[in-house]
Amino acid sequence: MRKLIYLLLSVSLILVSCKSERETCRIGVSQCSDDEWRRVMNDELRREILFYPETELVFRTAYDENDRQIADIEWFISQKVDALIIAPNEADAIAPVIGKAYDSGIPVILVDRKINSEKYTAYVGADNFEIGYRAGEYIVSRLAGEGRVLELTGLSGSTPAKERHAGFLAALENSPSVSVDVRETDWTDSVAFVQFTRYLEESGLPDVVYAHNDAAAYAAHKAAKKIGSEDECTFVGIDALPGKGMGVDMVSSGILDASLIYPTGGETVIKVTMAVINGEPYQRENKLSTELVTSDNARIMQMQTSQIHMLDEKIETLNGLLNSSMLRYASQRKILLVFVGLLCLVLLLLMLAIYGFRKLARMNHILSEQKREIEEQREAKLSFFTNVSHDFRTPLTLISDPVNQLKKSINLDDHDRYLLDIIYKNVTILRRLVNQILDFRKYESGKLELVLSDFDIVAALKDWTDIFSDLAYGKHITLNFEAAPECEGLRVVADMEKIERIAYNLLSNAFKFTPSNGTVSVRIALSDDRSRIIWTVSDSGIGMSDAHVNRVFEKFYQAPSVHHSGSGIGLALAKAFVEMHGGLIVVTSAKGAGTVFTIELPVVQQRDGTIAPDRHEQMSIMKDGALFDANQGTSPQMDDVYERGERECVLVVDDNADVRGYIRSLLIDRYNVIEASNGKEGLKKAVKSVPDAVICDVMMPVMDGMELCRSLKASVQTSHIPVMMLTAYSADEQKIMGYECGADSYISKPFTSDLLLARLRNLIDGHMRLQSIFDDTIPLSSESIAEIDKDFIGKLRKVIEDNLENSSMTVEILGEKMCLGRVQLYRKTKALTGYSPNEYLRIARLKKASALLSSTDMTVAEVAYSVGFTSASYFAKCYREYFGETPKEFQKKV
Ligand code: FRU
Repeated sequence: MRKLIYLLLSVSLILVSCKSERETCRIGVSQCSDDEWRRVMNDELRREILFYPETELVFRTAYDENDRQIADIEWFISQKVDALIIAPNEADAIAPVIGKAYDSGIPVILVDRKINSEKYTAYVGADNFEIGYRAGEYIVSRLAGEGRVLELTGLSGSTPAKERHAGFLAALENSPSVSVDVRETDWTDSVAFVQFTRYLEESGLPDVVYAHNDAAAYAAHKAAKKIGSEDECTFVGIDALPGKGMGVDMVSSGILDASLIYPTGGETVIKVTMAVINGEPYQRENKLSTELVTSDNARIMQMQTSQIHMLDEKIETLNGLLNSSMLRYASQRKILLVFVGLLCLVLLLLMLAIYGFRKLARMNHILSEQKREIEEQREAKLSFFTNVSHDFRTPLTLISDPVNQLKKSINLDDHDRYLLDIIYKNVTILRRLVNQILDFRKYESGKLELVLSDFDIVAALKDWTDIFSDLAYGKHITLNFEAAPECEGLRVVADMEKIERIAYNLLSNAFKFTPSNGTVSVRIALSDDRSRIIWTVSDSGIGMSDAHVNRVFEKFYQAPSVHHSGSGIGLALAKAFVEMHGGLIVVTSAKGAGTVFTIELPVVQQRDGTIAPDRHEQMSIMKDGALFDANQGTSPQMDDVYERGERECVLVVDDNADVRGYIRSLLIDRYNVIEASNGKEGLKKAVKSVPDAVICDVMMPVMDGMELCRSLKASVQTSHIPVMMLTAYSADEQKIMGYECGADSYISKPFTSDLLLARLRNLIDGHMRLQSIFDDTIPLSSESIAEIDKDFIGKLRKVIEDNLENSSMTVEILGEKMCLGRVQLYRKTKALTGYSPNEYLRIARLKKASALLSSTDMTVAEVAYSVGFTSASYFAKCYREYFGETPKEFQKKV
């Protein structure tokens, strides 16, 4: 594909860069004058150049003026023409500028006339000496060797005039009886007319007039005619141009007696010039031939020339056609180029589109394959889940029932009864959950049916709501039930069991997330057209974020919240039930502002229903499960008992009262247990009572376990307390997060009591072991101690050392200096060092005293006072207790 694109791009580039016109070659033509002979020559040049399509001719005419021709040639030099064709007006005057052009590298092709310099590239023209000579020969024969001739010469500075004159005289050399008079013209007929008229006046009519061109000969004829003597004189000219009124025509009509062809030679001029330009071989001197035209051959020549003229015209017509074709071709070529360019572009885009389309199709295919695989995996997971749920049912029943039996036994002590209650409660929650999952799967596979009956909706809703009144009372939540007057006694046709379950789900949900002193309200009203009941369940609970609200009905969706939000099946199932009734359920909620679920149900069902089977047992699970579920986090908290004694104190922080209660029941024999239902409360209690360990749940409302742990570890009063995190998840990331926030241990639910107790013991003992490192001989550098605790001990040592001699130093003053309350100082010092602050102060004094006794001559009493004891005998008593000998005994030894 890439190669193809490159190829197309290259083709487009070539086409675009293709020159629409080829480089043209420019040839300057500088004519000395503007007359018929020159016009014929210029036409020939134009015709011939057509054979060189890339070449252009640029004409300039000097009108017989040297200065003008010099300026023309200068201009051509400035234009840097590729070659110059020049007919120089005069041989000397024009030679320098021609030399300049030649020196600048421009090839110079002289035509007709020459210059007095060798600085030219080639010459094309007839031999003027020969022309003059042949004219002389003809005139001598015409005069039969005797007579008078008037020679009207061309411009004397131009080479043809000189050469024609020289040739003529050479021919007359052997005819002494032929006399010659010479008069000069400038090649124009006007000057010739004047000169001949003057000659007639001065010398009378000659026998022959030999003019250097036909124009001058005709002017002389006109002057002779003026005096009526034209028939008495013979007129001979040069040029013999074809065409009407020109030389040949004048010979034919008898005006002129004869004329010599002076060929214009345009064709040869172009051929030589192009050979020079193209670097092909050429001749420097190119002689054109001449011929005498008399009345004998004039007619034939006329016919030939008219034939040629016709052909020339045809050539010109063809040229015109060719030019327009060329123009058309050029514009069509441009259009073609643009078209091909566009075509390439379109092709390129097309290929890109095809490529993109194929890629997209491939991607789509891969995506749909992946989607299918995911769908299959999901389906497999779900059916596994369903099967497992099914399998749970029997064992759960087999737990539930015996537990129920056991509960009825009268020989149970309170603790056993408590444990059985926990089992029963949680088995019921599990059974409800399993049933909900199975029902939802049934709904999804279209196997769940509506079982319709006719019932009083208000009475039913009231009954179902009332079931939660004890719970509301226990949780200090106001439970309202309101039915609009128009609903009194309203009977609906619906699946009563499903409506009941919707009610339990919504109420359970509302109670679960509503804290003490909140409100849960159930309202029922009728739509304006009385076709639908509008039933709302609202709470003043913690509310949900927008993101959570939008997904709350998705199955297995759980908000990434800080609290337990259940399995995510209850609301999905409620929605499914509502929709089965052709109803609608919506939720509005805002964080901290409570939640409102609104359900619209048709009063009468359009669909057929089946008769309800007895599902009493199932419904009691649903009801009890919903109640237990709603009550999970909120059973009353046991009062904290702060009996200190020798028992260590453990703070249990969990929003689920059952979990708290159960852990308490595990610990109560060995520890003092205090409880908190969220992180915030836990932190408060930890600061107040400085427990020996904290067991906390990770997910809790208000403040989660991570934050609690971080706060405990950041505060000097509590930083030393070991924290054990408790979570329902065993995912590694959660553990890592827990350790990152400073947790000392981690235990996943479900846990066994033995494991919990063993871990807790290790945790507390581990901390106790740290006490030894506060021995003065060991530096405070152990990595297992938190920085904050190292700082604390360092500071404590320093304060004590600075105040060793101060007998009025008390624990209160020490607490002030350490910025801690008396209890916190006691608990922290004891936890970290194993000694109370008092003991720690006393030991420090005794150690200092021992050092003084061994290194000074001080008496025991002096030492006692210097380390802050106020009584020497008390000092001696303490000393013996700590070191096992009296200060005196020690002094004697050293
Ligand atoms: C035309 C012309 C011709 C003559 C030639 C000589 O300008 O005068 O009549 O033969 O020039 O250069």
